[in-house]
Amino acid sequence: MMRWLAAVLALCALPAAAQLGNAYAQVLAATSKPLLSRDSADARAFRGSVVFGTYCVTCHGANADGRGRAARLYNPAPANLRESDKNAEYIKLIVRIGGKAIARSEFMPPWGEELTEEQISDVTAYLQSINTRRR
Ligand code: HEC
Repeated sequence: MMRWLAAVLALCALPAAAQLGNAYAQVLAATSKPLLSRDSADARAFRGSVVFGTYCVTCHGANADGRGRAARLYNPAPANLRESDKNAEYIKLIVRIGGKAIARSEFMPPWGEELTEEQISDVTAYLQSINTRRR
């Protein structure tokens, strides 16, 4: 008698268990992919925003519009990076070697000793992602 009951219960539970297994498989499939691939433009811009917030924000401002807290100390003022017409190569260059080395303001510091090439590319990707002139 008890064996019958056990068998009936087991049979009833089977579809439910199969359904649960299926749902689990779906969740696993959806979350085992990388959420944001390391090499994607979004990932680069995101990492670059962290570099920007750490090293550039005091002068260039939280909105990268050149109006950071320290901006009024400098003449010429820190550039409005949202409206910059410079390409990626130029941005990387001025970030790496600073303003003075390319006959611009010495108050744009050289970052090549402090940031890695990856950080410099990432911050460039970030600046491009928020640039309003980019075609
Ligand atoms: C101490 C202040 C200061 C800090 C910090 C600073 N900058 Fe600058 N930056 C300037 C100034 C001033 C200029 C304008 C130079 C000029 O007009 O000759 C400038 C210009 C630039 C330009 C040139 C833009 C253009 O359109 O010509 C870029 C790009 C730039 N900065 C990126 C950065 C990045 C990225 C960081 C952080 C890693 C950073 N800056 C940190 C002061 C600063």
